[in-house]
Amino acid sequence: MAVEPLIFDLASPGRRAIRMPEPDVPETALPAGMARESLAWPEVSEIDVIRHFTRLSQKNHAIDINFYPLGSCTMKYNPKVNEAVARYPGFAGIHPYQPEATVQGAMELMSELQAMLAEISGFHAVTLQPAAGAHGELTGVLIIRDFHADRGDTARNTILVPDSAHGTNPATAVMAGFKVETVPSNSRGNVDIKALRPMLGPHIAGLMITNPNTLGLWDEGIDEVIGLVHEAGGLVYNDGANFNAILGIARPGDLGIDVMHFNLHKTFSTPHGGGGPGSGPVGVRAGLEDYLPGPRVRTIAEDTGPRYEWFMPERSIGRLHSFHGNFGMHVRAYTYIRMHGAAGLRRVSEDAVLAANYLKSQLSDDYVVPYDRSCMHEFVASASRQKANGVKAVDIAKRLLDFGIHPPTTYFPLVVPECLMMEPTETESIETLDSFVVAMKQIARESAETPEIVRSAPHTTAFKRFDEAGANRRLNLRWEPEHSQVVPSESVIGEVERILEAVPAD
Ligand SMILES: Cc1ncc(COP(=O)(O)O)c(C=O)c1O
Repeated sequence: MAVEPLIFDLASPGRRAIRMPEPDVPETALPAGMARESLAWPEVSEIDVIRHFTRLSQKNHAIDINFYPLGSCTMKYNPKVNEAVARYPGFAGIHPYQPEATVQGAMELMSELQAMLAEISGFHAVTLQPAAGAHGELTGVLIIRDFHADRGDTARNTILVPDSAHGTNPATAVMAGFKVETVPSNSRGNVDIKALRPMLGPHIAGLMITNPNTLGLWDEGIDEVIGLVHEAGGLVYNDGANFNAILGIARPGDLGIDVMHFNLHKTFSTPHGGGGPGSGPVGVRAGLEDYLPGPRVRTIAEDTGPRYEWFMPERSIGRLHSFHGNFGMHVRAYTYIRMHGAAGLRRVSEDAVLAANYLKSQLSDDYVVPYDRSCMHEFVASASRQKANGVKAVDIAKRLLDFGIHPPTTYFPLVVPECLMMEPTETESIETLDSFVVAMKQIARESAETPEIVRSAPHTTAFKRFDEAGANRRLNLRWEPEHSQVVPSESVIGEVERILEAVPAD
């Protein structure tokens, strides 16, 4: 492999990629000590910069490069029209401090998006404020907490979480101050009702269920689960991150769910960032809307047409985000929903479910499929057969990289050993699905005949296997060559202190 120069190696004094225009204001010297004395910027030409970053961009897998069946993440294609609309100056150039009268269009979009999400899910009211799915969960659980507290029902200190729930669910419940008890699944991957019954009682604040669950299965006993929790005085939270499976087919609000979050970045094709910027709107049934975070947008009918204004719901749990959430994501999701329409959204889910069932049937001779029933938009397989030859789920995942395919999610959910969780999404062609099947079958064959090839994969990527735990625990996003370590000088620190002292106390 050719050794690729780092951008610092490409540097040569005097090379540059930009030219600043002549200043059109008088030049002023920086206050003494404010200029950094040493800053080792790489001085590089435009073409070297372009090549450097283009090379880097190709080292990472992306949905725009190839198939990305990362279960639970719904890595569907994000249509470029979303981006075009989000960049309209009327959306991209506004500021949340602007007076209401000047951002009526943006408020109208938010109001319509709330209404569309409410219609699609069967909920009474929706907030767009939370910035991610887990943030939506926190919003929902805080609503459940305040709902019970307002009724003086303060003994309800426990949230039940099935073992097939997403890992963020128990974490959220704990963050909101609750104890967590785990409800086991039965052999069909549903909540085990027999186990659930004795766990219910006056200490239960609610149950957080992921439905469809992380096994890619619709809970066949969902009606009974909801009924039992309600009978015990608890509320039911649905982790709606897997909503991509049921658009236009089932509405959680109609099932009796009390609170649910959506992941706009999964279901409604807004980009997944590294931890954001996402969007996790929350829907609630009638009677809980006063608890939603604010400020919320509402419509006032006037003779000249509707006017939009912000308001704080009466019993609001408070603000969950500065201003109004990730507005750019709202624009993208709105565009996606309007582009598809009701029939198109239903088709999205039908195709997502069809693609997952197709892959499951194609791979079930080669891999153990622990829950042999129709799946929703994703399914889990196990590498337990391959493990007998010393090939683990992680090895299969790494080997897929040699085929230019992003691996499925591995080792999650925890209830399946050597788990491979695959979610093809609705946006892939049959040819792409088939090429994935060919790769997975070849890996199954290799695991039986030449397991070392799989165990030592990947063979074609720029880097091999990483210290993943180390990368997580000792994250360093600011690598710099030693000579460019920048330490603010005493004079800079002194100058900043002097400026701060000069700021009036009020
Ligand atoms: C089922 C489920 N719940 C919750 C989450 C958490 O969402 P986020 O990553 O946006 O916080 C995810 C993320 O993929 C998920 O798949």
